Order: sequence, then structure tokens, then C-alpha cells
Amino acid sequence: MRRPLIAGNWKMHKTVAETGAFLEDLLAEDLPPGVDVVCCPTFVALPAAAMILTGSEIGLGAQNVHWESSGAFTAEVAAQMLTEIGVGSVIVGHSERRTLFGETDESALARARAAQVAGLEVIYCIGETLDERDGGDTFAILERQTANLGVLDPSHLVLAYEPVWAIGTGRTATPTQAQEAHAFVRLRLAKLFGGDAAESLRILYGGSLKPANAHELLGLADVDGGLIGGASLDVQPFSAIIRAAADCANGDES
Ligand code: 13P
Repeated sequence: MRRPLIAGNWKMHKTVAETGAFLEDLLAEDLPPGVDVVCCPTFVALPAAAMILTGSEIGLGAQNVHWESSGAFTAEVAAQMLTEIGVGSVIVGHSERRTLFGETDESALARARAAQVAGLEVIYCIGETLDERDGGDTFAILERQTANLGVLDPSHLVLAYEPVWAIGTGRTATPTQAQEAHAFVRLRLAKLFGGDAAESLRILYGGSLKPANAHELLGLADVDGGLIGGASLDVQPFSAIIRAAADCANGDES
């Protein structure tokens, strides 16, 4: 049984003060056991967030990491700079990085490797655009995006399937679309890492996941949690999704 993971990708939202206020409120929530929770604020808010979360069950993630440990790479952040302040995981290869900032499969993989070497858990994002889905290329894209992941350590890896057309659009993959993509990704992972590792690897769904659709998506056989954008920015919807993940893990998917 895979333990669900609910991760909030805050993107370029929340100042340091807002991050602190959110986390204090989240810590005051009566969250269910059995669900891993990670919040990923902006880089500048990470030190304050790390202090607030020290000793708590809530994990802290960054939204990007560079592949070198130091050097002349203006505006980049090295993995050791993250682990030093208590960051435990990092999102890599998000579609916004791919489409807006030139991230490629190669650069995402280099970031992921460096992150794992430094001891970070990697949340590795994949997913097709609307054109690719409409062209019938979804599985080919997922195959390409996962082709070289075999160099990573599967025990510190989480996949996030985020269909680009569902991110921030209010459109969500149907349960059938999500399940078939996740099952396909798990087959790919089995080829890369072997069946046992693939069975224990978590594959998150991302793309307009919210309380209203959380049960139906998180209850799917190969959906092991969510990478949440918009609905992670307020404590109530984010907590509701965490509770839905716990319900699904307990077999109550209503
Ligand atoms: P939304 O939940 O806002 O669609 O964003 C999803 C996402 O990009 C998470 O990384």
C-alpha cells in the first residue's frame, strides 16, 4: 500500500509573512494521520517556513534546484543550499519551467540527479499539452519524458503526472484519463526500476485538483496523491484534499 502524498506547489504566490501565517494555520488543523504533506513555497520563504515546520509532520519542498553545487549560475540555487536549511524535497521539471523557462528533459534530469545526490526527495513532473493529447500523442510524450529516469534512485523519487491543459484551467482529467495515464507511467517505471520498485513509487496527479474532485481522483488505483496549485493556497481547501486522501487510503471514497 502506497502512503498518499499531498504536495502544495505555491508557485510565485505568498510573501514570507503570508507563508508564515498559512503554515501556522495549517499546523493548527486537525489533519488525519497516514498522509504525507509537503508545502513548496518560493525560495525566499523557505528559511522562515523551515523554522515554523521544525518538529512538525509537514514537509518542506522547493520548486527548483540547479545541477551544480556552486558556481556562476545567476539566480539558481544549489541542492546543498536547500538541505542546509531543512528542505526535504524539490519539484523538478514542472511544465511552467518547461514551457516558460526552457526546461528540457535533459536539464530536468540533471537537476533531479543532483537533488538526489544531496539527499533531496524529487517530485518529477511530466505531462502532455492539449495539442499533444488531441494529436493522440499522450503516451508517446509520457514515454519520452520518462525515458532516462532509470539513472535516478527510485526510493527518493515521486512522479507527478500533470496534464498541461488541466493546470490552472479548471479543466481536470477525467478519472479514466488520469487512471490510464498513471497506469501507463507505472508500467514505464516497472521497465526502468523493476516491478517491486514501481509498485512502491508514488505517482501524483496535478491539474485543477480541488476538494470537489479529490475523492474521485485520489481514489483511483494508480493515483497516490496530488500536486496541488491553486487549491493549496488556502488552508481550508488544502486540508480538505488531505482529508480526502486519508479517506481514500482508508477505503472510504465517498
Ligand atoms: P492547479 O492545481 O492550479 O491546476 O496547478 C497544478 C500544478 O501545476 C501543480 O504543480
